[in-house]
Amino acid sequence: MTNAVVTLNHGKKAFGDNEVLKDISLTVNKGDVLAVIGPSGGGKSTLLRCLALLETLNSGDLSYGDLVVCSNNAEGRAVYGDAATIAKAKTRYGLVFQNFNLFPHYTVLQNVTDALICVQKMPKDEALARGRDLLAKMGLADKESMVPCDLSGGQQQRVAIARAMAMNPDVLYFDEPTSALDPELTREVLKVIRDLAAEHMTMVIVTHEMGFARDVADQIIFMDGGVIVEQGPASEVINNPRHDRTRAFLANYDRD
Ligand SMILES: Nc1ncnc2c1ncn2[C@@H]1O[C@H](COP(=O)(O)OP(=O)(O)O)[C@@H](O)[C@H]1O
Ligand SMILES: [Mg+2]
Repeated sequence: MTNAVVTLNHGKKAFGDNEVLKDISLTVNKGDVLAVIGPSGGGKSTLLRCLALLETLNSGDLSYGDLVVCSNNAEGRAVYGDAATIAKAKTRYGLVFQNFNLFPHYTVLQNVTDALICVQKMPKDEALARGRDLLAKMGLADKESMVPCDLSGGQQQRVAIARAMAMNPDVLYFDEPTSALDPELTREVLKVIRDLAAEHMTMVIVTHEMGFARDVADQIIFMDGGVIVEQGPASEVINNPRHDRTRAFLANYDRD
């Protein structure tokens, strides 16, 4: 029995002749929080998008637990599983984007419950009850009938987190969840992510919040130029980086 929720081995992805992921391997175990840091253009979003099946790898092996999503054929090309496998894999993770990506014409509660009702075919009463529980957990109990544009960015992002959790995923992916928010709203969103970490939710978080990454993550990956330059325990990577490139990158940030 392995404890791995998601495993990527030798993942490669190019857009034309731009090799964006050069040879990325990572494993996220149940209950782990992995933070991914690094300069813009380094391939962080592409990595998350490949894990979340929004992009296809050119080569590599990707599994969710014992569910094999893709593996290399004899020519070293990634071959993806059939539609049923992909559909099953898609229930294993939730994704939170930088810009919330809520459905603008749905209420908050509809945003959270839509996939439960339409994809998972959960009975409506049950889905609404689950949606309300998640909204309460995000501190949004009184907002269920509002539409996204009537909420602050921080509230919208908390709705997006509730939506990502609705299907009860094994892992949550966050792509710079606070980069569109001012400092106060950033704090409220980071707090709900900290609370999830305290409950041992498995998460992969791309972030520029170095103090948050050090406090909340178990492991940190520093990515630059499509490769993992450095990986290690969060406090080591942030407080005592081993590589010059990591040091140079971190010198630009306040680590409080
Ligand atoms: N859909 C795409 N088509 C072409 N190039 C892309 C696409 N998505 C990302 N890239 C390129 O991949 C590289 C890495 O981008 P990205 O994964 O967004 O990095 P990061 O999230 O670390 O800033 C960049 O050079 C970017 O231009
Ligand atoms: Mg990005």
